[in-house]
This record gives sequence, C-alpha cells and structure tokens, in this order.
Amino acid sequence: MDTRLVGTAVPRKEAASKVTGTAEYVDDLALPGMLHGVTVRSSIPRGLIRGIRFGTGIPWDEVVIVRASDILGKNSVSLIVDDQPYLAETVVNHPEEPILLLAHESKELVQRARAQVTIDYEPLPAVFDMDSSLSGESIIWGDNNIFKTYLVQKGDVDSVWQDADVIVEGEYSTGAQEQLYIEPNGMLAEFDPEHGVTVRGSMQCPYYVHRALMTLFDLPPERVRVIQQETGGAFGGKEEYPSILAGHAALLACKARRPVKMVYDREEDMVATTKRHPSRTRHKTALSRDGRILAMDIEFIIDGGAYATLSGVVLSRGTIHAAGPYRCDHVRVRSVAVATNAPPHGAFRGFGAPQSLFALERHMDKLARAVNLDPADFRARNLLCKGATTATGQEIKDDIDLPGLQSRALQLAHYYEKLLTYRESNRKGTHKKGVGFATFFHGAGFTGSGERHLRSVVRLRAESTGCVRVLTSMTEMGQGTNTILAQIAAEALGAPYECIDIRRPDTAEAPNSGPTVASRTAMVVGKLVERAARELRKKLPLYSVSNFSEICRGYTGEHGPVEVSARYEEPPGVSWDDDRYRGEAYGAYSYATYVAEVDVDTLTGEIQVTDFVALQEVGRVLNPVLAAGQIEGGVAQGIGLALYEKVLWHNGVMANSQMTNYIIPTSADVPPIRVFFEEIPYAHGAMGAKGIGELPIDGPAPAVLNAVENALGIAFNHVPLLPEDVLLALASERAA
Ligand code: MOS
Repeated sequence: MDTRLVGTAVPRKEAASKVTGTAEYVDDLALPGMLHGVTVRSSIPRGLIRGIRFGTGIPWDEVVIVRASDILGKNSVSLIVDDQPYLAETVVNHPEEPILLLAHESKELVQRARAQVTIDYEPLPAVFDMDSSLSGESIIWGDNNIFKTYLVQKGDVDSVWQDADVIVEGEYSTGAQEQLYIEPNGMLAEFDPEHGVTVRGSMQCPYYVHRALMTLFDLPPERVRVIQQETGGAFGGKEEYPSILAGHAALLACKARRPVKMVYDREEDMVATTKRHPSRTRHKTALSRDGRILAMDIEFIIDGGAYATLSGVVLSRGTIHAAGPYRCDHVRVRSVAVATNAPPHGAFRGFGAPQSLFALERHMDKLARAVNLDPADFRARNLLCKGATTATGQEIKDDIDLPGLQSRALQLAHYYEKLLTYRESNRKGTHKKGVGFATFFHGAGFTGSGERHLRSVVRLRAESTGCVRVLTSMTEMGQGTNTILAQIAAEALGAPYECIDIRRPDTAEAPNSGPTVASRTAMVVGKLVERAARELRKKLPLYSVSNFSEICRGYTGEHGPVEVSARYEEPPGVSWDDDRYRGEAYGAYSYATYVAEVDVDTLTGEIQVTDFVALQEVGRVLNPVLAAGQIEGGVAQGIGLALYEKVLWHNGVMANSQMTNYIIPTSADVPPIRVFFEEIPYAHGAMGAKGIGELPIDGPAPAVLNAVENALGIAFNHVPLLPEDVLLALASERAA
C-alpha cells in the first residue's frame, strides 16, 4: 500500500461536516437556560465616564448587568502590556470601547435594553492620526503615546551618503484593512464555582484565551477550559480579540450562573474589533551608478489604536521585513508604533510585513528608474543569495536563486512581451494596460527567540480504536491545519490517513503548541507532529502498513494507549539578540515573485487586475490543493488591500462598517490567479515545509501599483488606490 500522503491532495478532514452542515459553529450551540449577551460601548473617542442611566420600558430586574466593579480578578486583557481593560471603569480611550455587559434570555429584549442605556461623559482631547500622536500635543497613552520603537542597524548608513552617485527618497502609506472572516466573533461561556470557567467559540489561539481568563477571574489553569468551535475564518482577526469576547461572555455567565452566548453581528464585528495597522514608510536610499544599493535608511510607523495589544510585535515583523530580500551593507530601520484614539489595530495576515514590503517594492521600481535600469535587472543585482545577510545580519543558508525565481515568474507572466505590446497599444484608447511585479520574502514562525520561549508541545496517542489521535492546540479555521497535520502524522507513522484522528482543540486535553499564527503551523508544529509520529512508530510493532489499524488496536488493547509527545527544539546555529535586534530573525523565509497585469479605465478611474502570476518557494508543498488555496486567497485579499478595501474613519470610528459600503473584491474583480511552486525542502520544517499562510498577502499590493504606474506613468504610493484617486491624478496631469 502506498502511504505517500505528503504532497497529495487528500480530502480535508472537516470537509464532510462542513458540506453536510453538521459542523458546529458557536452560534449553532444552545445550552439549557442560556442567555444572550450584548455589549454597551463608548460613543465617544476619549473621555471620562460621569454616569450611567438606564432608560424606561425595560424590565431591568430581569437583565443581568456586569460592570467593571463585578470583575473578580484583574480588569485587564492579559497579552503583552496589561493596559487594556475588559470594561472601562472611569475613562474611555476609543469609540466602541466596552463599558457594560447585559444578558437576557431574549435576544430581542437585550438588544432593546442596550439601546436604553445612556452613558454621560466628560470628553477629553483625542488624537486620530500618527503625526499628531507623535507630536505629543495630547498625551493619550503612557508618557509619550509610543507603544514600541525598534532600531535595526547594519554597517553605517550615514557614512555612505556623501559618496553615493544617486540618492532616492520615497514615502509610502497603507490603510487599515478589515479581516472580514465569514463568521463574526462569537463565544459561549459557562461558569460554576467548582469547575470554574468554560468557553467555546471562534478563535485562533485557545491558550491565549485560557491565559486571559485565568487573569480575569484569578483562577488556576485547571479551572479554565477553552474549546474551539468550528471557526469560519480568522486571517489574524481572531488572534487577540477572542480573549476579550470570551472574558465578556464569562463575566456575564459568572454573574448570571447561567450559560451566556455572545455573537457579534457583522456591523459590530467590523466597527469594534481589530483591523490591519495603518502605516507610513519613508525610504532614503543610496545607489551606485551601476545600480547597486549602497545604503538603505528606512522609517516605519504604524498606528496601534488606543491600547498596546500586539502592536509591538506587528511593528517588529514589519521592521525586520522593511529592507526585504536585498543585499545591502548599510541598513538602518527606525520604527515606531503610536497610540491613537481608535479601537486597537491588530493581527492581520502578514502582521506588519505587507505594510513595509508594499513600501519597499514600490520604492524598488523608483530606484530602478533612477539608475535607468529595468526593474527586474535592478532587483537582480541586489537580491539576496546564499551566504549573504539580511538587515538583521541573518545569513541566508538556503539554496535559493532569487534572480532565477524572479525571471521564471516574469516568463510565466509573459512580462516582457506584455511591456512591449502595451507600450504600443496604450498610445490610443481610454483603457491603459500595464504589468508590474514584486519580489519579496516572508519569515515563518515567531520572530527571534519567540519559538524558543513558546516551547510548543504536541502529543500523539495510539488508541484502542485503532486510530492515532493528534493532540495540539492548533486551530482549523479553513486553512487546512487538521488535514496537513494528519497527512504528516500518517506518513511519518506509516498509517493510513483515515487512521489519524484530529479534533478541534480543547485545553482540557490538548497540550499548548502555541498559537495558530505567524505561518508557523505547518513548519514548526508540523515538525513536532512528525517527530512524535516517528517516535510512536518505534513503539508499535508495525511490520506492515496495510494492517496498521489492526496492529494499533491489538497492541493498545493489550498494553493500553501509547502516548508520545514532542517539544520544540531550536534548530542548531540559531542566535538572536533581542536588545540589538540582530541575528536569526526567523527559522526560515519563503520567497516569491508576483506579477500583476492591470487594465485602467481612464474614463472611470477603475482598475481591473486582469492576470496574476504567483510563483513561490515555500519548501515542500504538503498538500497542493490547500497550498494553492492559501495563495489564491492571499492574493485576492492582497488585491483588496491594493484597490478596494478602504476604512473610512470619522473621529476614530469606522464609518463604513457594513459589507455594502466596505468593498472587497468579488469573484468578478479577481483575475485568474496562476499559482506555481518551486520546492526546496527545508530540513527543520515538517517533511521539508516552510511557512505559507502569510507570504501571499505581501506581494499583490506593490505588484498591482507597479503595474498601474506602468500603465499610466503615474506613481501612486498609497493603498487602497480607488478610482477617485486615479481620476484626480489624471485630471491634475491634464491640467499641468
Ligand atoms: Mo497572525 S496575523 O494570525 O500571525
């Protein structure tokens, strides 16, 4: 029997339950006596709470009301900096900040009740943009509005300017972006004095929720239980926020002594939960006449919103990726995450890298022009190669040929033919066509010493059912985690795929394998599953695979279940200096060149992406259908970031918090996405895999804007780029 499973498109583990509708999402659950919970939120961006009034027409004695003073443990969302309260006590720092929680058996009544609560405020000055925040005119967070700063230094940039042939500067910015997962946030909580708190819901990181609830209720780990329900997408958007919602539902359940469910509707989810950090990047680059990058000076700033949450970590990843996959002896990246009075911005696929890489890959086209080189030739002269070092001084040890990867992508896209054809055809007509590309990388796993500190564990257990259970805290949210982990386990064990039992994590039984984030699942946690499976294989008397199940059943029937666990060990030769931000920033990088073709309608300003080639090297491809799905989805979301998704801010509030006015690309707006892989197995990733989930959102925005510049000859340096921006630019060009 052929047990080669890795590299094949086996059916998804949860496919049947999803297509038959038996998969249980949190809103499918109902417990006896369950109440529905809602949140009363701040209607102002910043101010003091002076009073709370309860209006008429509501049987208030039937409504469970929780306020900050009901909290038994610590009123702070445990993450990195404990600055964010679960419920505002005396001061609010952003619009939509939770102040009160209400619950009632009737969902309809509790929603009416929410509308009858009035909060009286004494407003305080608020800050809505990064420059005002940096100016320090109003201090809204800490001593100086600054959550975090980084400095990455390599060589001495200031020694280079004087002798450089060419110096080029540029400024680039990106807007907020909503994750817009299919399923909004939702949690169901139970409380009993003996067992403590149990929550079920939509989430990426069960152990983040677990830790947050321990702090909120001052409970030991064994009295908090977190169970992931089927999760309809996340994209980073269910990395930190579920800890808040789980806490809210649990606070109500604790006070009511009844189960409480809280499920946001789309509008509440969009207006109140995290989005991608808006950013601005400034580049100053020294070049030699023959097109070598001599020095890169980069300033990167992100808007963190009102509380620190994960902004420091997002900033870190954006900072490390800011100089991209290029060789340069003199690099300085200075970065800062600032506070504003908007709901905290948070994790979103790419986690800072799409922001700084957008800037870099737009800037690369500008640099190429400054030295009269074709953008591909210019990049090829400067791309990293084996033995070269990144901005943090990390030596590239992969056998990667980036100029080769780039030129293969351009060939697949017929880039040069198109350049010539469109140059000609753009002379007439109102539609202008263009091609552009971006070459980039994405580091997989936690940054620096992160994985070492996480010390992730997985457990495999051969059971008397004849199956092997894979126990991890990794969450399936549509990306295929359960399938690939089962593929890895089955192949390493020499067992049929069907004999691998993998379920949604429950902290009562699953060990802490860390959060499902940072493109770490396949590479890092998959490797632990592989190691544990090989270990388990040695413990079972397996001489033939065709009867795996029988042997497993027989042996465990006689000796009891056989359990094996594996804990993360750092690959050799890895060092990271957290103070100087130098060393091996990531265990591995995935690499890509993405090529976009656009058609710009100069009468309406509309941009249509008409073709897209995504070529990447992600180590071994574990499941070709799921891998292609990750790329296609990431590209579509990246096109959204580039051309469609604009958050309109009115005094810190998202003004377009509906799917009718926050526009994402539909299938009609997405081009054919042609996905290609090159595979260089990575020794320390599961079966040779590297990270794949986030890479595909880094490239589309700069590739598309590079193509737009190629079509129109106008340099746009912000995303999203909307038709009105194009029309204004065309009009001012005509006027000039
Ligand atoms: Mo996250 S943006 O799910 O690493």
